[in-house]
Amino acid sequence: MDKNIKTLINQTDIRNVIKGLGTTISYDYRNKDLNVVCLLEGSLVFTANLLLQIKIPVNLYSIKVTSYEGKTSSGKLSYNVKDLDFCKDKDILLIDDILDSGLTLSTVVSEMEQAGAHSVRTCVLLNKQVNRSVNIVPDYKAFDIDNEFVIGYGMDYNGLYRNLPYIGVLKG
Ligand code: IMP
Ligand code: MG
Repeated sequence: MDKNIKTLINQTDIRNVIKGLGTTISYDYRNKDLNVVCLLEGSLVFTANLLLQIKIPVNLYSIKVTSYEGKTSSGKLSYNVKDLDFCKDKDILLIDDILDSGLTLSTVVSEMEQAGAHSVRTCVLLNKQVNRSVNIVPDYKAFDIDNEFVIGYGMDYNGLYRNLPYIGVLKG
């Protein structure tokens, strides 16, 4: 499957940066209860690998959210979880694969705050350099990338390529 894919970020770089991120998060949350929320399916691989680099106790939750159809955002967010009650009084670290338009993270952050979260911070594998309509800056990020469609390390194109162990761009 790899011959149509250009490597954007290789496995070694991903591993090293995630290790550093895990160290930073462990330090920042050393005096708090850390509640990690994984946005499925895109951030599953990133969350799993980040968790292994966090050296303090962690509670893990997941929410399924979709906004993309093919290579473009549908602009609408769909959830399968109506109930964010678990957030009440908790310090939440919300993990996503990419910060693109900002719709996903800004919506979920504000709903978690409405659900009574004590704090909500965001952590993304990739921060896309785009002009966002929504004003959101991730609290933690692994990499900045240009505005191009990427696959691998959990990210898909129409459901495929999530199992690619590096981050790539489809050629052509
Ligand atoms: P936003 O709501 O526009 O910020 O989009 C964020 C979501 O869109 C991410 O959680 C990804 O699932 C998906 N997404 C955005 N850009 C890409 C991409 O380049 N490849 C794969 N998925 C993407
Ligand atoms: Mg996603």
